[in-house]
Amino acid sequence: MTYSEQEQSLSREPRLILITGGAGFIGSNFVHHWCQHYPEDRVVVLDALTYAGNRSTLADLEGTANFRFVQGDICDRPLVESLLREESINTVAHFAAESHVDRSILGPDAFIRTNVVGTFTLLESFRHHWESRGRKETDRFLHVSTDEVYGSLGPDDHPFTETTPYAPNSPYSASKAGSDHLARAYYHTYGVPTIITNCSNNYGPYHFPEKLIPLMCINILLGKSLPVYGDGQNIRDWLYVGDHCSALDVVIHRGQPGETYNVGGNNEVKNIDLVNMLCELMNELAPHLPVRPAQKLITYVKDRPGHDRRYAIDATKIKTELGWTPAETVEGGLRRTIEWYLTHQDWWQPLLSEEYQAYYRQVYA
Ligand code: NAD
Ligand code: TYD
Repeated sequence: MTYSEQEQSLSREPRLILITGGAGFIGSNFVHHWCQHYPEDRVVVLDALTYAGNRSTLADLEGTANFRFVQGDICDRPLVESLLREESINTVAHFAAESHVDRSILGPDAFIRTNVVGTFTLLESFRHHWESRGRKETDRFLHVSTDEVYGSLGPDDHPFTETTPYAPNSPYSASKAGSDHLARAYYHTYGVPTIITNCSNNYGPYHFPEKLIPLMCINILLGKSLPVYGDGQNIRDWLYVGDHCSALDVVIHRGQPGETYNVGGNNEVKNIDLVNMLCELMNELAPHLPVRPAQKLITYVKDRPGHDRRYAIDATKIKTELGWTPAETVEGGLRRTIEWYLTHQDWWQPLLSEEYQAYYRQVYA
C-alpha cells in the first residue's frame, strides 16, 4: 500500500488547500497528485501566470467540482485574505516563486518581490486567518524551498542536512533563504504551523524549457547546440518530481510544525554526465533526430557567474521520521521524462515564444 493509499484509507478531515504557483512545474504536478489521491478535498490554485505559469497544464481539472483556479498575485494581500476566508482554507502549499538562477542574475527585482514580499504576504494573511479560526492544530502552511539556500559543497563534504548553515550564493537562493527565515520566524513567534522543505533539482513533466533537462531535450529534438556551462563538472542531485510530490504529501500529513525536512533523490550526477545520458536516451527513443548521435551537439559555453559547484542532500530525517524515500532512479526518471517530452510537443512548442528566444539570446549570446 502506498503512503497516499494508507492516508486515504484512514478517516481524515478533508483539506481545503490553497496551492500557490499551481500552474508552474512542481506546483502543477502537485495539484494533479493531490486531486488524484484526495478527490474529496477542495483545491484552490492561486497563480499569477508569469512566463513560467501555464494554465493549460491544469486544463483536465477545469470544471471539476472541487477545483478552482484563480489568476492572481501572492503579493496582493486583499486577494489572498479574501481567498483564505471565502474558501475556509486549512492548508497552504506554497510553491509560487521566481525560480530560475540565470534570470535572477539578469534581473533580481522580481525575485525579491515574489519570493520575499510574496511569502511574507501569504504568511501574514494566513496568520490572521488561522488565529480567527481558533489556531486549529491540524492547519498547515507548507513552504516549499530549495537546497540552494545551503550554498555550495566541496567534493568530499557531507551532503546538506537540516542543520547545515545557510550560505546562499545567487539572488535566487538568497531570496529563497529570506523566505525560509520568515516561515521559520512565523512558527517561533506566533506559533503558525509552518513546515519548510528544502529539496534538490526536480525534473519530469511540465518543466519549463529554460532549465537544464527540458532545455537539453528540446534542443536535441531541434538539432540546436547543447550549452554546457564551464567545465561541466558541477554536480546536482536529481529528484523526480513525482517523488517530490509524494514527499510533500507525507510532510503535510505527518510532518511536525516548526520543522524542516530535506528532500533528495539520492542521484548525484555531474552535468556533463547527465547531458551525455540524455543524448544516449534520445538517440534510442527519438526516431527522427536532426543530428545523430546527439552528443555531437554538446558545446561548452561561458560559465554562469557564481556557479555553485555541488549540491547534495542527506534525506535521513524525512526517511527515519516520516518514512519517505524516493522511488525513481535517475535512469528511469530520465527515460520517463524524455518519453513525456516526445509525446507532448503540443505542450512545449508554444513556450518557445519570441520572449523565450530573447531570454535565450541574452543568456547564451
Ligand atoms: P516554476 O518557475 O516552474 O513555477 C512558478 C509558478 O509560480 C508559476 O506558475 C508562476 O506563474 C507562479 N508565480 C510566480 N510569481 C508569482 C506571484 N507573484 N504570484 C503568484 N504566482 C506566481 O517553479 P517550480 O520549478 O515549479 O518551483 C516551485 C517551487 O519549488 C519554488 O518555490 C522553487 O523555489 C522551489 N524549488 C524548485 C526546484 C526545481 O528544481 N524546480 C528545486 C527546489 C525548490
Ligand atoms: P538549472 O536547471 O538551471 O538548475 P540550478 O541552477 O537551479 O541547479 O541548472 C542545473 C545545472 O546545469 C547547473 O549546474 C547549471 C547547468 N546548466 C548548464 O550547464 N547549461 C544550461 O543551459 C543550463 C540551463 C544549466
